[in-house]
Amino acid sequence: MSLEKARTTAEAIAQYSLETPEQLEQFRLQYLSKKGVITDLFGAMKDLPAEDRKQFGQVVNELKEQAVAKFKQAQEALEAAQTASGATAPLDLSLPVLPHSLGAQHPITLTKNRIIEIFERIGFNVADGPEIEDDWHNFTALNFPPNHPAREMQDTFFVERNGTNDVLLRTHTSNVQIRMMKEQQPPIRSIMPGRVYRNEAISARAHCLFHQVEGLYVAENVSFADLKQTLYHFVREMFGQETAVRFRPSYFPFTEPSAEVDISCHLCQGKGCNVCKYTGWLEILGCGMVDPNVLEACGIDPVRYTGFAFGMGIERIAMLKYRIKDLRLFTENDARFLRQFSGV
Ligand code: DAH
Repeated sequence: MSLEKARTTAEAIAQYSLETPEQLEQFRLQYLSKKGVITDLFGAMKDLPAEDRKQFGQVVNELKEQAVAKFKQAQEALEAAQTASGATAPLDLSLPVLPHSLGAQHPITLTKNRIIEIFERIGFNVADGPEIEDDWHNFTALNFPPNHPAREMQDTFFVERNGTNDVLLRTHTSNVQIRMMKEQQPPIRSIMPGRVYRNEAISARAHCLFHQVEGLYVAENVSFADLKQTLYHFVREMFGQETAVRFRPSYFPFTEPSAEVDISCHLCQGKGCNVCKYTGWLEILGCGMVDPNVLEACGIDPVRYTGFAFGMGIERIAMLKYRIKDLRLFTENDARFLRQFSGV
């Protein structure tokens, strides 16, 4: 039965007329494709009695060679005929190129690069540090008391808990300050962008993964006035010369004195709107003079040297700059959102 089918197939192949590209494609589908007759015939082999298989296999193999040879020959003949008649146009190098769509940079990348650009121009270099960190660099060296709530499970993702030497995902980029000061003697003038992690439920205003930029300047005679002037410069470059800035007293374990910086709301020009919650001000960062305990923990002489530090959320800056209302948009990768930032 199968042998019979193989014979009729051989005849059909021999008689098949292959004069047009359509016929060629039809032939390929019917005989040579995965769902074609020849594949079926190979498949039928397993149902034959063992003693017939060898002969049948040979017949089908020959059939396949016949079909492939016929296909190739017709294909070459068709191509030769096409070239002879000039049907395939010669390469025209003067034709315009096909439109090529460029990707867009992510708003976090754009904002980070702008922040780096502003600080690099006034002499800061860029440094990097690990995202998986130990308790000492993330908390202890930064003067966090042993029972400070930020160390607790609610805030911190622990990778491993083994007694005093806990391994965790860094909760801020301040760990890089410590690494810089351990490795280098002053003057140090660096900014340190990177990812940070906190155990927060994801919402429009909070996320378990976000980005910060840390700043650090340690040298002789660094004062709070230097800190203020540096941040005034940053804010005006980032948000415009007319932006008002205010420093509010605050507390961080690693700085003394500490402050938070607000800028005037550029949506309502300080008149009050729902973005600034009718205060006219928007908080953008934390900062202060590096606590002498922190300098000491890193082996820097706190009598000879002073320094300032600051830390800001890149998402926060991007949201204010581009008027983005929901943090989740940064990680959802919706192309309609991301495309808007091309060419910025
Ligand atoms: N590490 C702080 C945070 O994650 C931000 C911060 C505040 C960094 C003040 C600093 C600083 O360097 O001086 O909330």
